[in-house]
Amino acid sequence: MLLVVPLFLAFLGFITPGASSSIDQSERDTLFSVMYSMSSDKDWRAYSPDPCDEGSSWPGLECKPGPDDHLHVTKLVFGTPPNPTCSRSSSFPAEIFQLPFLQSVHFLNCFKWKKTALSFPPHSQNFALQQLSLRANPALFGTIPPQVSSLRSLQVLTLSQNRLYGKIPESISSLTSMIHLDLSYNSLTGRIPAQMGSLSSLVHLDLSYNSLFGTIPPSIGQMGMLQKLDLSSNSLIGSIPQSIESLKWLTFLALSNNRLSGYPHPASGLTNLQSLQYLIMESNPIYAPLPPELGTLPKLQELRLANSSYSGAIPESFSGLKNLTTLSLENNRLSGAIPPGLGRLGSIYHLNLSRNMLDGVVPFSSVFIMRLGRNLDLSGNPKLCLSESDSFKGVEDISVPICASATSSSSSSPLMQRQPLQSSLSSSSSLESGVPYWQFSSMTFIVLHHFLRLL
Ligand SMILES: *[C@@H]1O[C@H](CO)[C@@H](O)[C@H](O)[C@H]1NC(C)=O
Ligand SMILES: *[C@@H]1O[C@H](CO)[C@@H](O)[C@H](O)[C@H]1NC(C)=O
Ligand SMILES: *[C@@H]1O[C@H](CO)[C@@H](O)[C@H](O)[C@H]1NC(C)=O
Repeated sequence: MLLVVPLFLAFLGFITPGASSSIDQSERDTLFSVMYSMSSDKDWRAYSPDPCDEGSSWPGLECKPGPDDHLHVTKLVFGTPPNPTCSRSSSFPAEIFQLPFLQSVHFLNCFKWKKTALSFPPHSQNFALQQLSLRANPALFGTIPPQVSSLRSLQVLTLSQNRLYGKIPESISSLTSMIHLDLSYNSLTGRIPAQMGSLSSLVHLDLSYNSLFGTIPPSIGQMGMLQKLDLSSNSLIGSIPQSIESLKWLTFLALSNNRLSGYPHPASGLTNLQSLQYLIMESNPIYAPLPPELGTLPKLQELRLANSSYSGAIPESFSGLKNLTTLSLENNRLSGAIPPGLGRLGSIYHLNLSRNMLDGVVPFSSVFIMRLGRNLDLSGNPKLCLSESDSFKGVEDISVPICASATSSSSSSPLMQRQPLQSSLSSSSSLESGVPYWQFSSMTFIVLHHFLRLL
């Protein structure tokens, strides 16, 4: 142990660079060749002939002593000041893979003018590269070459917001050290590789905003460390695979804007997702009832399931989601009464049940309704109504009609004459500007101030 610690510290660069010999000639030449092809900011060789030496380095370059006690280039960052910016003619510098100790590469907002493509070294060498982040490069076109699997030490691969197309290469599944994989916001097509689950160290997987099709591969259940999974905005079909129940650390699951048809059968395995805090799965053609199992996820904070043709009632079990802050179920085909327990969710501040077919009396207290204010939306449920009880006198921010009372006449609108309502409406500037309001034979709308202003 006593021997191991100093060696370890030396490798991490805790021993001052000055104590190590300068960078090797061939490595220095490679570095300058990369700099001249990428950036026209400076005459790099004149500016800093020994770029790894203390005091003569530049932002975006990091050197550390290797096991041979020589300094080596370990990190390169390009794109945004103070780091070197990229020139109009810069293209992807495959020479970086000749820097044998390079651990980390970041090109942000760099390739913007000249079309360029990714290229990786053909052979599986002992590459040190752990992080490759090429983000927001509008001129980075082409496919992800299968040789990406040469980069065997990769832990972080970020290729988001480029112009990449073609398939995700199957070979990516062999990069088993990977912790973070982000290919979002490209035009990737084809299926998610069936063997993707081999990436069993993966903590974060983002394939959102591409054109991936086919089903979600069941092997995803082998990614036992996964905490964030985002497959939103693709063209995925089928149901969520049963194996998802193995992802017990999953905190964030986003599957919106696909063509997914539902949940695992049976859905009971969903109860294993005990870490889940965010389930965001809007705009899918589900055409089935909401699974009551979702109400058993104790950490759930956001449940967004809008615009997905859910039918049937809102499960009573949702009243058990004590940490829920957002529930979005708008624009479905939900029917039946609202479970009274929703009105006892102490953390909720955004509840949207608009545009469904819910019916009955709104079971919320005026305190609850006023607490949520404009973040409560029950509009577009024609058969829903608000209790005529006096406790709702102060409640105006909700566009739900007052329930027809058994004693009210069918030929007049008695609520119009109710003093509190009348006075609050006539004090509204919208009314003074002549906007008409609706009259119904036995009920009237209590209208939001801000809703009227929108008209
Ligand atoms: C609702 O979902 C459908 C597909 O299921 C989609 O075409 C539509 O754009 C979505 N609407 C909204 C408002 O998101
Ligand atoms: C709910 O949230 C509170 C405060 O954010 C937190 O302390 C608590 O652990 C959460 N409960 C669960 C079951 O996650
Ligand atoms: C509820 O969802 C509808 C879409 O159906 C949207 O227009 C409205 O702004 C949402 N309301 C709130 C309070 O978020």
